[in-house]
Amino acid sequence: MSDRFSFRLSATSGKARTGVISTPRGQIRTPAFMPVGTAATVKAMLPDSVAATGADILLGNTYHLMLRPTAERIARLGGLHRFMNWDKPILTDSGGFQVMSLAELRKLTEEGVTFRSHVDGSKHMLSPERSMEIQKLLGSDIVMCFDECPALPADRDRIAESMRLSMRWAERSKAAFGDRPGHALFGIQQGGLERDFREESAEALKAIGFDGYAVGGLAVGEGQEAMFGCLDFAPDMLPVDKPRYLMGVGKPDDIVGAVARGIDMMDCVLPSRSGRTGQAFTRRGVVNIKNARHADDPRPLDADCTCPACRGYSRAYLHHVFRAGEIISSMLLTWHNLHYYQELMAGMRAAIAEDRFAGFEAAFHAQRAEGDI
Ligand code: GUN
Ligand code: ZN
Repeated sequence: MSDRFSFRLSATSGKARTGVISTPRGQIRTPAFMPVGTAATVKAMLPDSVAATGADILLGNTYHLMLRPTAERIARLGGLHRFMNWDKPILTDSGGFQVMSLAELRKLTEEGVTFRSHVDGSKHMLSPERSMEIQKLLGSDIVMCFDECPALPADRDRIAESMRLSMRWAERSKAAFGDRPGHALFGIQQGGLERDFREESAEALKAIGFDGYAVGGLAVGEGQEAMFGCLDFAPDMLPVDKPRYLMGVGKPDDIVGAVARGIDMMDCVLPSRSGRTGQAFTRRGVVNIKNARHADDPRPLDADCTCPACRGYSRAYLHHVFRAGEIISSMLLTWHNLHYYQELMAGMRAAIAEDRFAGFEAAFHAQRAEGDI
C-alpha cells in the first residue's frame, strides 16, 4: 500500500470518469459515494456493515465533532478512526457550511465565524486555521478547506463577495494545513450558478494547488435542472488529473447526472436519513414502507437486491417494524439504502470502464419510469 495520496484515472466514457484514489488507509474506487457519519457513526449501522455495503470512505463533520465530544478528546483517544472503529479513509468537512445551516447567533468576519452551539448554546469560533487544526486532531485522511456559501437564490454581489472570501480562506487553509504526506487537502469551488464566478474560483484554487477539488455551493435550493446547468461547465474548470467532489449530493438521479458531468466523489445523508423515515431507494424508484399497501405483502423490498433487509425480510415485516417504531427498522432500511447507493456506484464504474455509460444512464432512467413498485 502506498504511503502517499494519489489519484489514477483508468477510463472515461463521455465526460464520466472512473479511477482509484490511493491513500495509506486504503483505496477509494471512483466514482465514489461517501456515507455520512456526522457524529462518529453512520446512524443505525456498525462500521463493518457500512464496509459490507461497498463503501470505501466515510464523511465526518468538523462542526458536530468539535462541539461533541470535541476534537481534543477524540485525539486523546487515538483519533477518529480508532474512536469509531473504522479503519478505512475518512473525509471531513470543514465546518463553515454546517455553521451556516445549524448554529445560532452566527457572526461572519474576515477572520472566520463565531457562533453558538445548537447542542448547548456554548460559544465557539471557526477559522481556516482552527478548522485545519481540528481536522488534524481528528486524523482525517481528506481534509476540506474552510469555506462559506450563500443559499440560492442570492444576488450576484453576495455570491461574488462570499466566493472571494472563501478563496482567501482557501489560501489560509493551505498554509495552515502545511505538508502532511499521506493526507490530502481539497479546495472548494464556489460561485453559485454563475459561470464567470465559477471560473474565477477555479483559477484561484488551481493557483494555490490542491490534492483534489470540490464543487461546493450546489444543492442549496436551486433545483436539479439549475444544478445540472452549472455542472455542465463547473467540473471542466478543475484539473483533469485530480479528484472532483460534488458536496452534499444527492438523490440517485442527481448522482448519475453528476457522474455524467465528470464528478468523481459525492456524499449525502439521504440514504441513511431516508432509512430512518421509512423511505427505501430501489432501481424502480422510492418505496414508502409505511404505506398500508405493504402490510400483507410477503415479497421483499426489492427481489433483485442482495442486502440483508431484502434477503431475510418481507415488506410486511419492514412495514410492521417501522410502524411499531422498532430500532431494527432503521437498521434494515439504512443497510438497504446504502447497499443500493453502492450498487449504483459499482454499476457506473463498470459501465465507464467498458465505455457504455450513456447506455447505463438510459437504462437507469427507463427502469425508474417503469414504476410498479
Ligand atoms: N456541503 C455541501 N455543500 C457544501 C459547501 O459548499 N461547502 C462545504 N464545506 N460543505 C458543503
Ligand atoms: Zn435490499
